[in-house]
This record gives sequence, structure tokens and C-alpha cells, in this order.
Amino acid sequence: MAQVRKRDNWGSRLGIIMAVAGSAIGLGNFLRFPAKAAANGGGAFMIPYFISLLLLGIPLMWIEWTLGRYGGGFGHGTAPGIFYSLWQKNRFIKYFGVIGIFGPLVIFIYYLFIESWTLAYSFFALTGKYTALMDQNSLRSFLSGFQGLENNQYFSGIGTAYSFFLITFLLNIWVIYFGIKGGIEKLCKWAIPLLFVFGLVLIIRVLTLGTPDLSKPDWNVLAGFGFLWNPDFSALKSAKVWLEAAGQIFFTLSVGIGVILTYASYHKKADDVVLSGLTAATTNEIAEVVFGASIIIPAAFVFLGPADIKSVAQSGVFNLGFVTMPLVLNKLPLPAIFGFLWFFLLFLAGITSSVSLAQPAVAFLEDEFNITRKCAASIFGISSFILCQPAIFFLGRGVINELDFWGGTFFLVVFATIETVLFVWVFGMDRAWDEIHKGADMAVPKPYKFIIKYITPLFLFIILGMWFIQEWLSIIMMKNVSDVDKPFIFGTRLGLLFIFLILAILVKIAWRGKKHEGAK
Ligand code: ALA
Repeated sequence: MAQVRKRDNWGSRLGIIMAVAGSAIGLGNFLRFPAKAAANGGGAFMIPYFISLLLLGIPLMWIEWTLGRYGGGFGHGTAPGIFYSLWQKNRFIKYFGVIGIFGPLVIFIYYLFIESWTLAYSFFALTGKYTALMDQNSLRSFLSGFQGLENNQYFSGIGTAYSFFLITFLLNIWVIYFGIKGGIEKLCKWAIPLLFVFGLVLIIRVLTLGTPDLSKPDWNVLAGFGFLWNPDFSALKSAKVWLEAAGQIFFTLSVGIGVILTYASYHKKADDVVLSGLTAATTNEIAEVVFGASIIIPAAFVFLGPADIKSVAQSGVFNLGFVTMPLVLNKLPLPAIFGFLWFFLLFLAGITSSVSLAQPAVAFLEDEFNITRKCAASIFGISSFILCQPAIFFLGRGVINELDFWGGTFFLVVFATIETVLFVWVFGMDRAWDEIHKGADMAVPKPYKFIIKYITPLFLFIILGMWFIQEWLSIIMMKNVSDVDKPFIFGTRLGLLFIFLILAILVKIAWRGKKHEGAK
């Protein structure tokens, strides 16, 4: 076997579970999930959501943990090397793996700016900067002023937002600089428990809201929960609801992105992945369907009622989190404290995810170019800083949505499809099953052998197929983009193509003259 360079390791089993849970629990749980659920009719969303969890999310989680551990054994922590270890005879397979570095990098370059808003708003809550604002319009204009989209009485220019972006960016690079055990694991071990404590306090606050306006007895907290949990079977016929629910499962579990492959590559060969993977996924689901579902939706429901909550959610993910939620909290006692708890919870969720999004690119540089972590973190810091700028300065031109579509939606499904086919069809299901169970503390339930081999890939192909049929042409032709935004969207696409090509060239250079080992 070729000489394998000594790689970082996780310090403890709890550490890796916390880190993967930290990667999974993010803005997706507390902002994206409630917004998607409310916009898709509440209870109508939850059935496809749970089916996608069982048939896509959990199998992909096991596949990625196993593939990551397998590749790590050959010194590879990212998809190009991991795919190559699986199928060395294929010269092109490593280029498909580029998606596993490209996707998280693209998410990172817009996610970080949104994460920085949560830090800023935690500070604004404590200093009372927005607590006197008592209607949607004022809070909306506060948000637009902060984002640099308009000059108003609250902000002139993007200076404040940019300062918080810089702080957030430096914090992320600082954590990454200290590595897997010394940076990421340490952060997640205190941030995740703290996040749950903050979440619990907020849930208790929401549960005790009762019926704030007695003239509207139906707008009560129980009805708010009912909005999400009363099942609506008629929605099973809607393709859009299925796509949205499956997309949310990918995003929230961080599967199909490439980050779990990298985190799992720091495992030792005989470390369990079955129980650990399941524990991390379960922790994420508790954070999503218990915490994510019990704060913003019931709270917004009692103040807005069933009709308005849907339209607010449809007007965008940020409205619920940065306009509706502060509005609700401003109407209650101690708005500064509860506002801080809400936004700092979001910040903790955000930073534990963003460091994981950075990790594949850093690991790629370390593993394939044999450079030190500090050097890799510095190269990543400089390049990603430049790449973050369009999302900040062209926010109003739809750049974030475009990055989210390619990096945070489309390529997730493509990547998940490739890795699943590779694992179960090229590597082979029997070998895959044995590999999953190496060092396992529990057996994967038998029906999952069939699900992973047939149902998960079929589900993925159906999702991809439906996308192509329903949306491909209008997306490529920018049919829903306004004329002023078109040059920006086109520029974003060229930029993405450029990033992809650079990564592919780096893969080519890394493999030149190298002898890698893996399965034949
Ligand atoms: N899984 C991360 C989130 O939910 C990316 O935000």
C-alpha cells in the first residue's frame, strides 16, 4: 500500500456525533424548514418529508459515512479521491467527485453572509436597536436597510452588515485553522448543547403564549401546532410538495453536499458508522421537527393567523426569521432577552454548519497536495473571501437565490445520485453492506439492503427526472428572472462554471504522476 500521510482524527465518538449534528443542524432547521412547511400548507408537507427522510435521508447518511471512512483509509477526505478509490479503472470518475467540493464551497459563499446577519441581530436585540418596531413594514425596512438594499432611518449603507460579515468570516477561518479536533470538534461540543438549551427556553415561551388576542379565539398556540401536524393527504398528489420536501431533507441532513464524506474520513477504520450516523441524523431531526417546528410557526400563527402565515412564508425564508419572529417577540415581555436567544441560537446553528461547508475544500488541499492545514486554511480563507463578495453586494439582484439553486439544491441531488450508484452498483451491494457493518455497534435493519439498492436510487432518478421535465428549460432560459437581474444571474453562472473548472484542473494536477490506491 502507498505511504499514507498522517491525517487529523476525531478526539472522541461524542465529538464526531456532535460535529456531524452541528453540520446538519443549521439555518435550514430553524428558517428554511418552517418557511417551506408553512408555504407548502403545513400538514401537507410533513408526509412527503418523513417518507423522504426514511427513503433518502437515512440511507444517504449511512452511504456517506461509510464512503468517507473508506476513502479516509486511503488518505482521501473528499469525493474525487474517494470515488477514485472505489473505481480506479475509470479515469473520469474523480472529476464527478469535484461536485463534492464545489457544492459545499458554493453554499459557504452565501451561507456565511446570512449567518452574519444572525450575529448582528443578536447584538441589535441586546442593544434594543429594533425592539421598538411593532409592525411588519418597519421591521422589513430595518432588514432592507441593514442588508444595504436601501438607505433609511435605520442604516445608511452596508457598513454595519459588512463589519458583522468580517467578524463571522474570521471566526469561521479561526475554527478551521485549528483543525478537526482542536477547532471543529471543540466548537461543536459546546455549541450544540447550548443551542438546545436556548431552543428549549424559546419553546417554553411559545407554549405559554395561549391566545394573545381574545377577539380571535382560533389564533391560539394549539391551532398553530395543528397547522403543521394535521395531515393533509391530498398534498401527496403534488409533485412540487414532494420536491420541496426531498430538497429539505438533503439540505437539513447535509447529505448530497460532500461534507459528511469529509467528516467521516477522519474516522479510524473500525469505528462504527451505523449507530453514530443514526444518532447524528436523529439529533438533527429533533432539532428540526421538534425545535424548528415548535418556535417560529406556532408563534407566528397566534399573531398572524392561518392565512397570513402562509403568505409571509411564501414571500421568502428571511421574512419569517428576521421580520415576523422579532415582531412577535417585540410584542411580548423581555424582547431583548428572547430576541437575543432566538438570533444567537441561529448563529450557533449557522457557524457549526458553515465550518463543515469549508472543510471539504480545506481537506482537498491538505490531502491531495500534501500541504499543512494552516497553509490550506489560509488559501481557503483568501479565495473564499473573494468569492463571498457577490452574495453581499448583489443580494438584491438574486445572486443568493441563484447560488442556492445550484449549490444548495440541484447539485445535491446530482451528487447523491452519483455516489449512490457508485456505491451500490459499481462497488457492489454485498461489499457495500459489509463495508457499512465494519465495526458497527448495531445492524442496519434488513429491509434497508433493498431500499439502498433499489428505492433510494429510483427515488433520486425520479426527482431528477421531474426537475428536468418541469423546470429545466425555464431555469436555463432564465424565464422567471427580471431583465435587470439577468446580467447578474448570467455572471453568477459564469462564475460558478469558472470555480468548477478550477477545481477540475486542480484534480488533474493532483493526480498527475500520483499512484493512488483503492478498490479495483
Ligand atoms: N445542514 C445545514 C443546514 O441545515 C446546511 O443549515
